[in-house]
Amino acid sequence: MEHSQEQASQDTTPQDIAAAGSADFGSEVHGDTGPDRWAGGGYGFETLAIHAGQDPDPTTGAVVVPIYQTSTYVQSEVGQHKGYEYSRSGNPTRTALETCLAALEGGRTGLAFASGLAAEDCLLRTVTSPGGHVVIPDDAYGGTYRLFSRVLERWGVAHTPVSLSDLDAVRAAMRPETSLIWCETPTNPLLGIADIAGLAAIARDGGARLAVDNTFASPYLQQPLALGADVVVHSTTKYLGGHSDVVGGALVTADATLGEELAYHQNAMGGVPGAFDSWLVMRGAKTLGVRMDRHCENAARVVDLLTGHPAVGSVLYPGLPEHPGHDIAAKQMSGFGGMVSFRLVGGEQAALDVCRSTKVFILGESLGGVESLIEHPGRMTHASVAGSQLEVPSDLVRLSVGIETADDLLADLDRALGSV
Ligand SMILES: Cc1ncc(COP(=O)(O)O)c(C=O)c1O
Repeated sequence: MEHSQEQASQDTTPQDIAAAGSADFGSEVHGDTGPDRWAGGGYGFETLAIHAGQDPDPTTGAVVVPIYQTSTYVQSEVGQHKGYEYSRSGNPTRTALETCLAALEGGRTGLAFASGLAAEDCLLRTVTSPGGHVVIPDDAYGGTYRLFSRVLERWGVAHTPVSLSDLDAVRAAMRPETSLIWCETPTNPLLGIADIAGLAAIARDGGARLAVDNTFASPYLQQPLALGADVVVHSTTKYLGGHSDVVGGALVTADATLGEELAYHQNAMGGVPGAFDSWLVMRGAKTLGVRMDRHCENAARVVDLLTGHPAVGSVLYPGLPEHPGHDIAAKQMSGFGGMVSFRLVGGEQAALDVCRSTKVFILGESLGGVESLIEHPGRMTHASVAGSQLEVPSDLVRLSVGIETADDLLADLDRALGSV
């Protein structure tokens, strides 16, 4: 079993098995069409979100992909099975999600993980080696920075934080041993914008790969692979899941070789999601398009309120024409997203007071769900970057603008800002 699992993951991904109809799997579980029917069929984003990898179950006719809550699969004789042997290596519910994610990002291989950080860990241990070097953003999710600075560095992989909006600085940070540029755009929590195509060219010239954490934008608003990125990373906990009820992660690539290497490491390292969590992310992804439209609309209304408010010193949102990354964001994104950060004239205490005072915006970590959230990055999501080059301003508040009635969100914020 060990050997055959290893072989399966080394040579092919579960999507490949499904697409090729290998053994009996294609006809018995996914029908004879395979996921490529959707991904290569010229369908629009919302159609792919609802159908890619999710053909009705041929055994029962179930329209919704079943939750295959099983760890193992029968073999008719040794080595004879329907494409699945053990659920760390592959599970049909997870395959459906992975196929859907690959279609949504325009990739070939999609891999789902138990968290965004598990996905990042798998990618980093696949594409770096001791003695190597990575270029990372000077503004990024704190947990990502912690992975580079506290974990990867101990294993001999050096990193250089640089402002990714400055392509000359990125070029200057490259070394002969640089194997990866890590990009987040928009960034968490300062909403900085990086030029994905520009970074891809630098990576290519330097013999490195470009990874883009697309969590803030979601594939509905931005598709990094089409702009030259080698691999896309997601915390599916956020917009893809969309309902704050599941933790998950994903990697998607269009590079078949990298896809095989990642799938090998996914199985070898084992940070996979269970069937129910895979199903929750897949159900969330079906409505990603309509949710993102409303997130963007509501965020624009919130930004309007904040920009005119006397308690607010500055608003960080790529949709604002004065944002330094506005033109690039307008070029590479189809909307500016639902994340908004702002700084308080009254400093840290005012920021803490606003966070404490809202009623509709819930004070909590995370983002990308239907409900609006408010947080203080310096003391919450980004506490782990205190004292580093990535430290965030103490007067900063971050909003994840949800899809509630916009007027209620504006009234809530106005009331909270009036109290500081
Ligand atoms: C941009 C970004 N990337 C990655 C992660 C890590 O994802 P997870 O919390 O699912 O491990 C987060 C979490 O907040 C994030 O905001």
